[in-house]
Parts: sequence; structure tokens; C-alpha cells
Amino acid sequence: MTNGPLVFCVANQKGGVGKTTSSVNLAASLAVSERKTLLIDMDPQGNASSAFGIVTPPTQIYDALVAGEPLEALLYRTELDFLQVIPSGKDLVGAEIELVDRPRRERQLANRISELREGSSGYEFVIIDCPPSLGLLTLNALVAADRLLVPLQAEYYALEGLAHLMDTIERIRGAFNPNLELEGVLLTMFDGRNNLGRQVAAEVRAHFGKRVFETVIPRNVRLSEAPSFGKPALLYDARSPGAQAYLHAAAEILARYPATPAPEERPAPQPSAQPGASSNASKDASSDASCVASQNASSQPTRRASTPPPLSSPTKAPHPGPGRTPRP
Ligand SMILES: Nc1ncnc2c1ncn2[C@@H]1O[C@H](COP(=O)(O)OP(=O)(O)OP(=O)(O)O)[C@@H](O)[C@H]1O
Ligand SMILES: [Mg+2]
Repeated sequence: MTNGPLVFCVANQKGGVGKTTSSVNLAASLAVSERKTLLIDMDPQGNASSAFGIVTPPTQIYDALVAGEPLEALLYRTELDFLQVIPSGKDLVGAEIELVDRPRRERQLANRISELREGSSGYEFVIIDCPPSLGLLTLNALVAADRLLVPLQAEYYALEGLAHLMDTIERIRGAFNPNLELEGVLLTMFDGRNNLGRQVAAEVRAHFGKRVFETVIPRNVRLSEAPSFGKPALLYDARSPGAQAYLHAAAEILARYPATPAPEERPAPQPSAQPGASSNASKDASSDASCVASQNASSQPTRRASTPPPLSSPTKAPHPGPGRTPRP
């Protein structure tokens, strides 16, 4: 385990498989469990940014990649205290061209994330939403990441694309980032009534075994409506099957990476304590998350789904509030 945040790259070169939906909703689910999380939008389409109501932001991830701005100067607040976003926009299209002659151009994001690890931001998780390609932007994300999370839509060509992605990962591990590991394949937009979907899901599980999330994300209209309200599904309709599925997927992640209490928070050892009694992070996190989520769910949005996201950007947060102490 590395110091500072654990960095997840959410990638699949295939378009429209649920990368952004997964990045946004996993980030929100981790944050409602009070695990300080940073979502970085590395896609010029800016969908992860607009999913939080951030449109045409004056500062973007571009500034970190091309001008070397520290990530901490580019944070935007969200409605969730434990989640900040670094947005993207069309400028990012130019970044690939502007970086092309730079030495170590594939390490620009990794360098900025190293600075974040050395600072006192207290992030526990960083989630990077990638564009649908294996170009320089995705390469930067994969070089910066500790873990790769692959959303996969259970359909006919899904496995072919996956073989290509795994091949690329092996090459990146060999050339740039030996630490990169596959966190898991997350089946998305699943429709249990569809035979082909069930077959492909079974094939993916046969091939990747335990590296497939147990949670399957169902096709759910609430997940596709939420971004037009500038909210993650948890804040749009916390009880919807989509929001609940992402909470469960996040609980699987949290079970693998339980929070380390800061020394001052650590309870004094109790001689009568049951071994492992307080270590069920997944269960705790999941119930915490549901609890906060259902509180938030009381304020249902009233705008129609067809209304575009708000034009006003959220307040910029140059100095994030204190979070949990990073893991040792
Ligand atoms: N589980 C789901 N149920 C219903 N709709 C979904 C679900 N997941 C994603 N969608 C919708 O499918 C579309 C594609 O999803 P998303 O944008 O997350 O994919 P992506 O992989 O990020 O796409 P791109 O490759 O363009 O970046 C979006 O309209 C999204 O709202
Ligand atoms: Mg996307």
C-alpha cells in the first residue's frame, strides 16, 4: 500500500460503458462513508464535471497537466463534504498535443499526484475518470494509478476490448508503472432479462474470477437522469437500485481498504474486546453510507430531467477542509 491516497483509474477504451457513471457514483459512495475522496475528470467531454453541476470551470485538470499547477489549487467543492472534484473541459483536447514534445509526458499527472501525497490534503481515495481511448490522457491516468477499475457492459464485443485493455496494462506495468494492479471489473448496465448479458457476465467471471466485483450495476434510469440535475444518484434518488448498487460496489472497495484511525482517534485497547469486533468495514461503511444517503434523499430535486445542469459553478475551494489522516 502506498502513502497518501489510493489512486483508482476508471478506464475502458470502449465508449459509453459506464466509466463516468461509475466514477461519479463510486466517488460519492466513498465520500458518504466519510472517506475523503477526490474525483479527477480526465475526459475532455467533461461529463464527470457536469455530473456535479460544474460547467465551463475557469480552472481545470489541464492546468495541472500543462502548466504544472498543484492539484490542491484546482479543487471544487461538491454537496458532499468528503468529496472534491477537479473538473475538465475542452482545453484538455489541446493537452495531448501540447504535451507531445515534453520529456516524460506520460508522468505529468503522476507528478502532481506525488505532490498531493506529500502534502497534508488527507485524501484517502482519488478516482480518475478516463476518456474512451488509450491515448496520452488515459496513459497519464494509468501511470499515476495504483489500481485499475474497468467498467464493462455485458454485451457481445465486451471481452474482445477487454483483452486489448489487459494487454495495454501489462505493457504499462512493464514500462512505466509496475505498481498498477487490477482492482476489478465492474459489470454495468446489466439487464438480467437479457440472455446475452447473463452469458457474457458468466464468461467474464470465469475469466477474471474474484477480480470481478460481486455487485452488478443494473440498468436504471435514475443513474442516467441524475447528471442532468448536477447530482450523483445518491443525492438524486438514494433508494434507486442504481444508487444502491454503487453503494454496494463501494462497500466492496472499503472492505479491502478499511480506514486507519488517526493515532488520537484510536481507541485504547480494551481487554474484553472481541477480536475483529470493529473490523467489519464493509458493513459499517455500507450502513453509514445508506444512512447519510437517505438523509440527503429527503430533498428530492424538482427540476425535470431534460433541464440542463445549472450554469453557476460550485464555489471553488482553494483550501479543502481537514479530512481523515491518510493511511500510513
Ligand atoms: N446503469 C445504468 N443504467 C442506465 N443508464 C446508464 C447506466 N450507466 C450509464 N448509463 C448511461 O449510459 C450512458 C453512458 O454512460 P457513461 O457516460 O457513464 O459511459 P462512459 O463510459 O463514461 O462514456 P464515454 O466513453 O463517452 O466517456 C450515459 O447516458 C449514462 O447516463
Ligand atoms: Mg465518460
